[in-house]
Amino acid sequence: MIKFYKTESIPLELHKTRVVQKLHLVPVERRFEAIKEAGFNTFQLNTKDVFLDMLTDSGTNAMSDNQVAAMFQADDAYAGSQSFFRLQKSVEDVLGKKYFLPVHQGRAAENVICRTFVKKGDVVITNYHFTTFLAHLLENQGSIAELLSDDALTIKSDNPFKGNMDIDKLIACIEKNGKENIAFIRMEASTNLIGGQPFSIANLMDVRRVADKYGIMLVLDASLLGENAYLIKQREKEWQENTMADIIKMMTNLADLVYFSARKLTSSRGGGICTNRKELYLKMEALIPLFEGFLTYGGMSVREIEAMAVGMYETLDETMISQSPGFIKYFVEQLVALGIPVVTPPGVLGCHIDAKAFCSHIPQTEYPAGCLAAAYFLISGVRGMERGTISSVRDENGNEIMADVELLRLAVPRRVFTLSQIKYAIDRLIWLYDNREMIGGLKFVYEPPVLRFFMGQLEPVSDWPEKLMAKFRRDFKGSL
Ligand code: F0G
Repeated sequence: MIKFYKTESIPLELHKTRVVQKLHLVPVERRFEAIKEAGFNTFQLNTKDVFLDMLTDSGTNAMSDNQVAAMFQADDAYAGSQSFFRLQKSVEDVLGKKYFLPVHQGRAAENVICRTFVKKGDVVITNYHFTTFLAHLLENQGSIAELLSDDALTIKSDNPFKGNMDIDKLIACIEKNGKENIAFIRMEASTNLIGGQPFSIANLMDVRRVADKYGIMLVLDASLLGENAYLIKQREKEWQENTMADIIKMMTNLADLVYFSARKLTSSRGGGICTNRKELYLKMEALIPLFEGFLTYGGMSVREIEAMAVGMYETLDETMISQSPGFIKYFVEQLVALGIPVVTPPGVLGCHIDAKAFCSHIPQTEYPAGCLAAAYFLISGVRGMERGTISSVRDENGNEIMADVELLRLAVPRRVFTLSQIKYAIDRLIWLYDNREMIGGLKFVYEPPVLRFFMGQLEPVSDWPEKLMAKFRRDFKGSL
């Protein structure tokens, strides 16, 4: 945050733009056609119709000049590529783990880990699930126990560490299931689905103590590790004087196994699994050539491997890491001041709008977060992501399980948007909030059996999108 002499404090951009991509703000009439063609699912939009793409930070963070430069020294070799050894060294330097397995993205790591360590009937204990992790766990016939503290799902909160695991619940869960039936404990840095909320080092240490007591493996999902470490520095008193490198090392040292989506962690494409325990590495090793590619590329292009190695070191750069949380804090604080319901305290990854409160007139069976995502795209050209019941799975009898929270996530990838674009996103949300009663429900017309939110097709339960579009036209006249 930089304080201005006479006005506000703002998250000033500490980078300059050297390559740009032209964006198109298409008229609301075209946006209406586009969201219909997409089955009212923002994953199905074509980016030619999208103005601000706030779907995700996955693979969309801006790369640094040094990352792009490194791509030119890529060593094309099926086996033994020097690019791989540079990446392996960066993993050891930054994450402190000697044994490294490359995979093509985060969910590939989840596939390898679940296939190796989960047997039928096992339980994985986690602070909170992530969609792709849960899908792989279920594929391997395991089940999940999510042990956040009771207030973690409270939307309006000043709990700085909503991603913390509840230690009493953890002990009770192990005692109830028997330690031999717990495949591992999984801590997700910056707990994605509850609004990018971090856990503290004190909590991770407590989890480690319990894991040691019962002899259970501790796995860290480090996809958003840099941002979690940054918020620890901001919010956990004992760590305020430490460097990002100290905090990151402390976190990874506490875990037996660390995996990540490099699409997030290192602003590149790819993923990895690392450990200092050779026996764990050896259990997984054979699956890499089977599912990913040879052990020195793991399904990734060597150019991306080079960008990833540089990106790994850049996660230690507090200025770079703080940019997205800084913009998110600004975004959230503006919305709070305007009375628009949003997850607090501000987390990482994006600004998370509380769709249950925003669309309190829409029953959860008609997917309020999905409706809000579609309506917001229609009136703004901003693409967000539904993180609610559409992103959940049905139970074994095919019944809908209502999500704990219904969120519209507006991702703020690193160093991609300007503050005036964030202001545009806020302005259109204000208009939509004033017209929220006009948003209606959605229903599935095509529902895939796995990860339905990606490919699902929906349709409105009434002609609410037409009416909303007409109101937008009346209010904004000739403006886009
Ligand atoms: N773990 C976390 C915490 C994630 O956020 C993601 C992806 C993954 C694992 C899977 O990684 O996409 O490389 O296969 N999150 C993206 C998102 C998809 O938009 O939040 P992946």
